[in-house]
Amino acid sequence: MRLSRYFLPLLKETPADATIASHKYMLRAGMIKQNSAGIYSWLPLGLKVLKKIEQIVREEQNKAGAIEMLMPTIQSADLWRETGRYDAYGPEMLRITDRHDREMLYGPTNEDMITDIFRSSVRSYKDLPKNLYHIQWKFRDEVRPRFGVMRGREFLMKDAYSFDLSAEDARRSYNKMFLAYLNTYARMGLKAVAMKADTGPIGGDLSHEFIILAETGESEVFCHADLVNMPPPGELDFDSDLQPLVDERLALYAATDEMHDADAFAKLPSDKQLSARGIEVGHIFYFGEKYSAPMNAKVMNSDGKEVIVHMGSYGVGVSRLVGGIIEASHDDDGIIWPKAVAPFGAGIINLKVGDAEADQVSEDIYNQLVAAGIDPLYDDKSDRGGVKFSRMDLIGLPYQITIGPRGLKEGIVEVKTRATGERQSLAPDAAIKFITSEFAGI
Ligand SMILES: Nc1ncnc2c1ncn2[C@@H]1O[C@H](COP(=O)(O)OP(=O)(O)OP(=O)(O)O)[C@@H](O)[C@H]1O
Ligand SMILES: [Mg+2]
Repeated sequence: MRLSRYFLPLLKETPADATIASHKYMLRAGMIKQNSAGIYSWLPLGLKVLKKIEQIVREEQNKAGAIEMLMPTIQSADLWRETGRYDAYGPEMLRITDRHDREMLYGPTNEDMITDIFRSSVRSYKDLPKNLYHIQWKFRDEVRPRFGVMRGREFLMKDAYSFDLSAEDARRSYNKMFLAYLNTYARMGLKAVAMKADTGPIGGDLSHEFIILAETGESEVFCHADLVNMPPPGELDFDSDLQPLVDERLALYAATDEMHDADAFAKLPSDKQLSARGIEVGHIFYFGEKYSAPMNAKVMNSDGKEVIVHMGSYGVGVSRLVGGIIEASHDDDGIIWPKAVAPFGAGIINLKVGDAEADQVSEDIYNQLVAAGIDPLYDDKSDRGGVKFSRMDLIGLPYQITIGPRGLKEGIVEVKTRATGERQSLAPDAAIKFITSEFAGI
């Protein structure tokens, strides 16, 4: 993409209501624009990151055997009445009336709807287990929408729903998601910890939140320090017994505020007692028959007897993750995108647009990086160097290649690695080779 043709509305001033780094930088870097409280437009740069995160979530869900579908944002109140949630959900639910006076709502979650879809077609235990998911916008009329996309009212969530014949089978489905989540966050460059969690209005008795540590996080959490740096499970055979891998992690203390057990925590060695703030980037639940019983979601078991299915649900805060990643990865100059989610792989800075050689070499590098699949952003605007450098630092692309007449006299360009600030003077070919090799396997 050529910057001169792109839509990148940067802000010079930080809007006063933005208090945390991710909110400030997302506004300043022209990633989002607020339309009303907690409701945002995703501008081109922001949308690119959102889509990359979404795709990582999708790939890891698919690997774990979950099947993608898409449910609507607007739901009928009828299904929610069947489960009793229409009244229980409270003012966070946006209730809508259509022209025929039918009560509708903008879905805050989809347990009721998916249970209806399941019960209307699945009849036999032979069709189990099943895990269906979608990546869809949700609406929750939060009391205090804040911190930009971190606590929006409209937000993008991946929500998966598992169906099993027994509690034991449901535990297997839960374990798949538990480990798939750890792999998902690791691919985004995040260190997420699974913590024992309260189930809230979703209900149930087995639940974990996935938390990334950040001072600006809204959750108070307690865990064994070793969990933070524990490597993700990596490639898994999802048909094998995953319990030992889950148990390895559950053996170390980790709990959110609501589930905190101060006595158990105090028994950890004092240098391992980590009490911190964190951002909830995912939440998984096993809730058994909570929705399937009132909605009569049953299948025939192998003895020909009808049994109520056991369910779980599994959420990832896709849009919240955009902010979460920035909280985990930025400096005073701007965002530092992990390679896997960067909106563009590299930025090309032409210091002297109009200079025949600088233009030629910049174009050349641009074309070669495009061909190599790096998806570069070429700053071909005629601003002065300082403006270009701070703009590129702000939007945080992993690599910057600077091309100017001075370097070109010696046949070199400069490559800067955004995360470390390290600069290398390289011939254009070597610069392309370096950046391309840095993206190998991503
Ligand atoms: N208002 C919101 N804005 C952005 N993401 C959200 C919001 N509410 C929930 N999420 C994301 O969706 C995931 C699954 O939803 P869940 O029902 O567990 O949320 P929650 O527990 O109500 O979240 P929170 O405690 O932060 O309000 C959460 O882990 C979070 O990452
Ligand atoms: Mg939650």
